[in-house]
Amino acid sequence: MQENGQKENTKTVIIRRLVKIALSNVTFDLDIMKVGIDLIHFATSDYFLGMDTFAQEKGIDVNKYYVGIGQEKMSIAPPDEDIVSLAAKAVEPILQQIDRAQITAVMFATETGIDQSKSAGVFLHKLLNLPSRCRMIELKHACYAGAAGLQMATALVKVNPQEKILVIAADIAKYDQDSSGEATQGCGAVAMLITQNPRILEIEPGSGYFTDDVMDFWRPNHRNTALVDGKYSTKVYLSSLKHTWEHFTEQTGRVFEDIDYFCYHIPFTKMADKAHQTLLKKVNSQLDKAQADAKTLPSQIYNRIIGNSYSASLFVGFISLLDNVKDRLDNKRISFFSYGSGCVAEFFTGVIQPGYQTVLMSESHRQQIAQRTELDYPTYIDFYYKTDYAQSDLALPQLNKGRFRFCGIEQDKRLYTQQTPSNAL
Ligand code: CAA
Repeated sequence: MQENGQKENTKTVIIRRLVKIALSNVTFDLDIMKVGIDLIHFATSDYFLGMDTFAQEKGIDVNKYYVGIGQEKMSIAPPDEDIVSLAAKAVEPILQQIDRAQITAVMFATETGIDQSKSAGVFLHKLLNLPSRCRMIELKHACYAGAAGLQMATALVKVNPQEKILVIAADIAKYDQDSSGEATQGCGAVAMLITQNPRILEIEPGSGYFTDDVMDFWRPNHRNTALVDGKYSTKVYLSSLKHTWEHFTEQTGRVFEDIDYFCYHIPFTKMADKAHQTLLKKVNSQLDKAQADAKTLPSQIYNRIIGNSYSASLFVGFISLLDNVKDRLDNKRISFFSYGSGCVAEFFTGVIQPGYQTVLMSESHRQQIAQRTELDYPTYIDFYYKTDYAQSDLALPQLNKGRFRFCGIEQDKRLYTQQTPSNAL
């Protein structure tokens, strides 16, 4: 009996050791496998409103916007542009570079939901001819959901390395006319392809996160525009940054000096400046102003002329950094602070992959921004406040100049079309 028992024990020990070795190999493989952003592209609308026009109309010194808020222009979506048409514009150049049949999931992050039930990604699925063996999910938490999508997609690829996931963040930031938020509108969509062995950014493990039930910005179901307690929202943003930073350092052991460039959620560029100052103070940084600015200003260039794009805004900032830092960013560590009012926030990092510059789509970003048409104030008001979308049937005038267009509603069903851009307006 005893001999049998001893044999059992020896067998069990050997089996345990084998399992342990096998598991440690799996863990090792997962640890060394890089996952992150393989391709990234953004889209914005074909129109903008200058803050000079805005300031003149409101009778306010334009420097309040240029200097105080840090905004020069805001992208304005025409009535026939929505999050689906913007998202399609952002995704299409990525699909031209890969086999679209390989996409296994789409995570669509947005504050600007278009249906209470059906996810926006399913409209996109048809418009872009995505494979039927593909999951679609819509993610919501104000401006935070894009970061949540990125983290979830990264985790999914770590478990199933063959997955190729599109994370899309798309929003049209709209506040009431004459409200404090009106100067901080804008729109845009960012599409990111998440894969193993990514060519642009490896997402690093470990992040700091924070949730608190606050009413700083919200949009009840009956409203097209957000409600905001503006000054309070800026305070909650900054305190959330401090909480996530503390959690991030506990989780990762990293310090401020380990990070080469800082990307923040950018509702308006002065907010990102304030965030950076807050972090510098928290870590007692000895950097002088020029050194400190150099770590974050390149990420603000596009947002300054696009405006807020809620869930997309942090990633528009990242693209701005990639497109505008002249030196090579190979192996540089980038931090990301995502803030979604209400509120949920997260601080995490990624490392730029050598050779990233060969797959950037900088020219498309620059062209879209340069080719926008400037609006006068009355046309901006027409675009933003004159269409009643709460109708079962609605035909929209053709103003969207891009390939993908939200053309209206028939019997409560939204309709989208593809057009040849040159045939449009
Ligand atoms: N020249 C230079 N600077 C001037 C100036 C002038 N002529 N006039 C005013 N300024 C400065 C002010 O001194 C002020 O600077 P500080 O912030 O450093 O004090 C700045 O310009 C703004 O002036 P006001 O405070 O008077 O501006 P405001 O009352 O219009 O409100 C705001 C500003 C609260 C940010 C408002 O734009 C707002 O409500 N925005 C929407 C909410 C928002 O974006 N919150 C950010 C955090 S929440 C978030 O991030 C999620 C999200 O995306 C919404």
